[in-house]
Amino acid sequence: MTSTLPQTVSPFLEPGPRTKPNSLAVLQLSRDNFVPVYLQQASGEHDGYVEGAVINTRYGSFPHSTLLNVPWGSQVRASKVDTGSRGRKRKWQLDEEAGRATSEPIEDEKETGNGAGEENGDGDEGKQLVTDTSGFIHVLPPTPEIWTTSLPHRTQVVYTPDASYILHRIRARPGSTLIEAGAGSGSFTHASARAVYNGSLVKGKRPGKVFSFEFHEERYHKMKKELSDHALDGIVQLTHRDVYKDGFLVDGKSPEADAVFLDLPAPWEALPLLSRQRPQLREGEAGEAGANPWVSPLHPKKSVFICTFSPCVEQVTRTVSTLRHLGWVDIEMVEIANRKLHTARDRVGLYLPVDRGVNSSAKDIEEAITKLTEIEERFRENARPKQPADGSEPAKVASKAATNGKTSVDEAALKYPWLDGRLVTRGEPEIKTHTSYLVFAVLPMVWTAEDEATALARYPIGNEKFVVSLMGKASMKEERREAMQQKQGNRKSRRKDRDEKLAEAEG
Ligand SMILES: C[S@@+](CC[C@H](N)C(=O)[O-])C[C@H]1O[C@@H](n2cnc3c(N)ncnc32)[C@H](O)[C@@H]1O
Repeated sequence: MTSTLPQTVSPFLEPGPRTKPNSLAVLQLSRDNFVPVYLQQASGEHDGYVEGAVINTRYGSFPHSTLLNVPWGSQVRASKVDTGSRGRKRKWQLDEEAGRATSEPIEDEKETGNGAGEENGDGDEGKQLVTDTSGFIHVLPPTPEIWTTSLPHRTQVVYTPDASYILHRIRARPGSTLIEAGAGSGSFTHASARAVYNGSLVKGKRPGKVFSFEFHEERYHKMKKELSDHALDGIVQLTHRDVYKDGFLVDGKSPEADAVFLDLPAPWEALPLLSRQRPQLREGEAGEAGANPWVSPLHPKKSVFICTFSPCVEQVTRTVSTLRHLGWVDIEMVEIANRKLHTARDRVGLYLPVDRGVNSSAKDIEEAITKLTEIEERFRENARPKQPADGSEPAKVASKAATNGKTSVDEAALKYPWLDGRLVTRGEPEIKTHTSYLVFAVLPMVWTAEDEATALARYPIGNEKFVVSLMGKASMKEERREAMQQKQGNRKSRRKDRDEKLAEAEG
């Protein structure tokens, strides 16, 4: 992947309706195969292709020009590209290097795209691209979910089921300020950047921000570049830092975080630096407590929500113990067991009369063969156009197939192959995602005498104009009177009815 011009708003946050030049797009080759790519406007020959920049996949070649300015989600068909020109180009370059420049191969390249076929894009400099006979991909906008599955892994990453749950539990929302350590491969960073983004172009809104920390120098540089390529560097501030030692201030100032996520091998080492008060000096640590005023990285006027992510329970135990010592409350551990369920229609054993919830196979070979023959016949039938001459709706295919002398039990289902068979859901035998233990906790905001005075001024106690209980007494009395009157009224009218009926009977 190559980076180009920066964008103002990240395509992860506001991708717009269509693909754009110099912006990240994700090509979906198959269900779980995604390729991130920066789309480039064709400007002449590129890497030996006269079509400009080209992406080669096992499903064919895709010049960038065919992927540009299309609505997100578009299916794009492969193009015929002049792959031969690459070899010839190299030969030409070699010739040039040897001092024998020749334009011969370039002449040949001009032939590309002149064959018969559907045009699928405005090739550069008048060159027309030709759609290949097969192969297609889908162009998708970049999202944190897709990025997590396609990013270049440098570490274990936090996957979407965990990331979404964590962000929800630590109350990451538009305008939040989140501390994250370590950044690793940036999977969680992308998810958190979107969670805190509040369309910061709107005036008067507190801009959301992620303060991310990474200790490993190479990972830090790679991620710094990725953030800039993805135009997320306005929202994510990445710092190269050992947080165990140097804490979470940025340029000496507090990020004033209201949410924290620690994906570190030893979160308990970092927790003392996420306090509201100066942490006690640790064993072997030099320094004068109180030499400089303590600056907390946490928001002073908000409760702070934390999550730590640890793969083994021993780490959890230490983390929980440290959290308790440091005054965090509501400490809870959660494990996410993500499981995929595969749901499909089982088309075998349909003709067995009543036990459709139980049978999973044909009664005998004859039934299986009859069923298969019928399915094939139905597919052939469906593939044939059946538009009647009068232009009315084509008739649905009704199958009259019988098995072992019996007619099918589900005639209606046979008309629609997709409704055929019973629905079967199978779970994965094993849980495949890498997950960890998630520890959650809350550090309540510090409640000062000033806060108490403000609260009292807003909700005064003792100066009320109405006393709720007195109001209640008066209204309850009124309600009782009304109920009594109604009751008496009912009794009177019942008595009147009875008297009238008696008079009728007697007279
Ligand atoms: C498992 S990875 C984090 C993966 C990340 N959450 C993601 O979703 O891509 C842990 C990272 O923490 C970093 N790390 C370890 N100790 C650190 C420290 N003391 N300060 C800052 N980062 C640290 C490691 O270099 C590593 O990249």
